[in-house]
Amino acid sequence: MSYLALQQAAETRRSVYALNKNLPVGTDEVVRIVEHAVLHTPSSFNSQSTRVVVLLGAEHEKLWQFAEDALRAIVPAENFEPTAQKMAMFKAAAGSVLFFEDQNVIQGLQQQFAAYADNFPVWGEHANAMHQYAVWTALAAAGVGANLQHYNPLIDNAVAAEWGIPANWTLRAQMVFGGIAAPAGEKTFGPVTERLKVFGA
Ligand SMILES: Cc1cc2nc3c(=O)[nH]c(=O)nc-3n(C[C@H](O)[C@H](O)[C@H](O)COP(=O)(O)O)c2cc1C
Repeated sequence: MSYLALQQAAETRRSVYALNKNLPVGTDEVVRIVEHAVLHTPSSFNSQSTRVVVLLGAEHEKLWQFAEDALRAIVPAENFEPTAQKMAMFKAAAGSVLFFEDQNVIQGLQQQFAAYADNFPVWGEHANAMHQYAVWTALAAAGVGANLQHYNPLIDNAVAAEWGIPANWTLRAQMVFGGIAAPAGEKTFGPVTERLKVFGA
C-alpha cells in the first residue's frame, strides 16, 4: 500500500459547505465507511468509547430542523436570516453523522485505572476526533463532501428524544455530508517551520 494514497486522501478532505443530495456512492457505502472507522480507529486502552449515529434523508433534515428551532429561540428574529440560510444549506445535504462519547465507558476506566482518571475524558475526546477525521477523509476519498459542525449542547435533548440516544452518550460533533455542489474555498497554510521541529536528522 502506498502512503501517498493516504496523503492524497488527506489533501482531498476539505470543509465543503455547498452540498446536495446527489451522492456519488450509495448510502450503504457511506454507512460502510462509517462502520470501518468505528472498527479501526484507535482509542485509549482500546476502550472504544466513541458512539456514532448516521442520519439519512428525512432523518437528517429533521436534525437541522431541530437546530433551527433551537436557534430561533435564542437568536433575535430580525437577525435570523443568515442562520436560516445556514440551516437550509445543511438540510440540502444528503445526511449527517453524529459523534458521541459514552460516559459510562469513560467513568468505568476512571474507576479501573484511578492514576489516569483525569486523562480518560481527554483521551476520549482525542479518540472521538480521530473517528471524525477517519470518516471525513474516507468520505472525501469516495468523492463525498462534508463539513464539521458543533450545535451541541443546544440540540442534545431533541436528538436524544428523537433517536432514543442513551443518557450516557454525550454529543460531541455533527458531520454534514453530501454531493459536492461547489468546491471548498481557498485554504491558507501557516509556515510549517513554525509548526514542526526536527532534531537529530
Ligand atoms: C476540531 C474542529 C472543529 C471544527 N468546528 C467547526 C464548526 O463548528 N463549524 C464549521 O463550519 N467548521 C468547523 N471546523 C472546520 C474548520 O474550520 C476547517 O477544518 C479549517 O478551516 C480548515 O479547512 P479545511 O477543513 O477545508 O481543511 C472544525 C474543524 C476542526 C478540526
